[in-house]
Amino acid sequence: MAIRPILVVPDPRLRQISKPVEGGVSDDIRALMDDMLETMYAAPGIGLAAIQIGVPLRVIVMDLAGKDEPRAPRFFVNPEILEPAAETKPYEEGCLSVPEIYEEVERPARCRVKSMNYHGESIIEEADGLFAVCIQHEMDHLEGVVFLDHLSRLKRDTALRKLKKAARAGAA
Ligand code: NI
Repeated sequence: MAIRPILVVPDPRLRQISKPVEGGVSDDIRALMDDMLETMYAAPGIGLAAIQIGVPLRVIVMDLAGKDEPRAPRFFVNPEILEPAAETKPYEEGCLSVPEIYEEVERPARCRVKSMNYHGESIIEEADGLFAVCIQHEMDHLEGVVFLDHLSRLKRDTALRKLKKAARAGAA
């Protein structure tokens, strides 16, 4: 396992559309997921899409366990969102590729998620609460979308200015 560098907005690689994993979950894909999980824990974060470490494949890792709970890693290969609820809910989101920016995003409150797990088994899960928020946020990454894209232009521009300023300060 290895910690990989996380791409940060406005890196153009984050705009790529990720490709489906072909031929099931191989050892190479499991090694990728191991690296993603280690990178996510180190950041620390609760979700990570493969494109965030520069790999344009439809792979997501997640762990929604609380601080004092045992780790509960989840793996999603070729995930699909089914039956998103008409009802939406706001949630203050952040992203490892958009450091230190937190803004409210409105998304369907519930959905179902169809994907393959770490072992290549096909599963369907019901998602609500933080799971629904996180899986929809990570699915956006597979389409080249970051949560800033859901904000008003004014809020997005303010966030991007803040990011630029932080990047300059970091480089100095
Ligand atoms: Ni993100």
